[in-house]
Amino acid sequence: MLGKKRFLILIGLALVLVLAIAGCGGNTSNNSPTASSTSTPASVKTEPVKVVSLVDQVKNTQHYKFFAIQVAGKEKDANYDYEDTCIKCHSQVAILNDKNAKIADFFKGGKYENQTEGITCIVCHKFEGKDMISLRNKGWDSCGVCHTADKPVLKLGGEVHHPQLEMMKGVPIEGGTPMPTFKYSNMKDTFSCVDCHITNSQKHDFMVPGVKATYVPSGIARTGTTLDYDQFATVFKQEKCVSCHADPKPTVDKLKAHQEEIGKKLEELRPIFDEWGKKVETMDKNDPKVKAYNNGKTYFWYVDADASKGAHNYTLAKDCLQKAEAEFAKLK
Ligand code: HEC
Ligand code: HEC
Ligand code: HEC
Ligand code: HEC
Ligand code: HEC
Repeated sequence: MLGKKRFLILIGLALVLVLAIAGCGGNTSNNSPTASSTSTPASVKTEPVKVVSLVDQVKNTQHYKFFAIQVAGKEKDANYDYEDTCIKCHSQVAILNDKNAKIADFFKGGKYENQTEGITCIVCHKFEGKDMISLRNKGWDSCGVCHTADKPVLKLGGEVHHPQLEMMKGVPIEGGTPMPTFKYSNMKDTFSCVDCHITNSQKHDFMVPGVKATYVPSGIARTGTTLDYDQFATVFKQEKCVSCHADPKPTVDKLKAHQEEIGKKLEELRPIFDEWGKKVETMDKNDPKVKAYNNGKTYFWYVDADASKGAHNYTLAKDCLQKAEAEFAKLK
């Protein structure tokens, strides 16, 4: 889909916006006389399709809301470890207009105090003249510029944040063996995140079909997700999947089993990760248990922060959790 469909026609967008502005909250598929007379028998009720403008779609996503929630001209949260680097993935202004912006600029008293826009259209798209937009970054990079651990080496003992790109690539924790996924090693130039995290005229949040997510009350962090596998199976209807996944069932069943296994192991190890995280703070840093914890922590964190419960790379996720478990066993 990407690459080939490089130019996206804005007319579609304009239409959606016009419909939304006109207050057309109703039925799109049945409004056309031909559609109702040819395809839908009178006895079958179809759900009315609510047309949501692209702008509203995006404004409702975490991509947009997050930055506003986090800063929004408020005081800095003293418990929060902000760095100036944070904004290079979180703020439109810092990404596009002012690479030297400092995080303090966005809080009370700063020059961007009132600038709370998160990731908007132009962070991902470029306007290429009249009615044409394209993606600013291609392929895996269209998401991977931000969904990356952003480090050349994933250091044993360190923290790991949003490593979705590394997980797909199969980048090991320092000292391990690379474990690239089939998708990344064999389809590097023909596949990318958005082939599973699909978008369409009703959805610009890039969650895979079938995901339900929950968030902490402030909205600043996701607490969990569930996946409806039947709904997820609809991704395989795309033309570019059928040659290998004519019947999606075995793949979806495998995915379900993988996610159950990885999800269960994460929850089994989480109490140790949390509890010992506090304990080691007061321990002698030469204590071998501190080293064991820190090593285990990195392996656990990698899989946890990827947040796909093994969907991005089951082999690597499993390997990391085995290693985390082995390190944590030394704490007993
Ligand atoms: C997080 C990145 C991101 C943001 C933010 C974003 N888009 Fe997109 N958009 C994409 C990607 C990726 C695609 C899919 C491209 C493809 O499949 O070739 C897409 C597709 C589209 C399409 C084509 C939709 C279709 O059904 O084919 C339009 C039009 C569009 N975006 C407009 C917008 C507008 C307007 C905004 C802001 C209100 C916006 N986008 C925000 C990444 C983004
Ligand atoms: C400019 C940086 C940037 C780009 C580009 C980007 N993202 Fe994100 N993405 C973020 C940030 C920051 C968040 C965190 C928002 C939050 O958790 O509140 C996020 C969150 C998400 C989430 C979780 C949303 C939720 O509700 O929990 C998904 C899924 C996601 N991105 C997928 C994608 C995909 C797929 C692409 C490529 C089309 C993409 N992102 C491009 C920065 C980016
Ligand atoms: C082979 C399909 C596939 C590809 C390719 C893929 N993902 Fe995912 N992704 C998933 C599935 C399945 C989940 C798990 C959904 C769940 O159970 O919550 C997921 C989860 C996520 C999440 C956590 C939010 C959520 O919905 O659970 C983020 C963020 C994310 N993916 C981003 C990315 C990015 C960025 C890329 C590209 C570097 C990528 N994904 C590539 C299928 C894929
Ligand atoms: C390389 C790009 C990048 C940088 C730099 C970055 N973030 Fe993020 N951040 C992301 C992405 C991508 C996500 C979404 C990950 C996901 O949903 O799995 C995210 C998510 C978050 C979340 C939500 C976490 C959750 O549990 O849902 C918080 C809070 C956050 N970032 C704060 C920060 C802070 C504070 C900094 C600076 C110390 C920072 N970020 C630096 C890309 C980045
Ligand atoms: C060239 C063949 C090929 C094409 C085309 C292809 N896949 Fe796959 N896919 C595979 C193979 C092989 C596996 C199992 C490989 C593995 O376990 O890493 C797989 C596995 C998957 C998985 C399961 C990951 C897991 O947890 O085991 C998902 C999801 C997936 N593919 C989605 C898609 C989607 C969506 C498309 C179309 C946009 C697609 N694939 C196109 C070959 C392909």
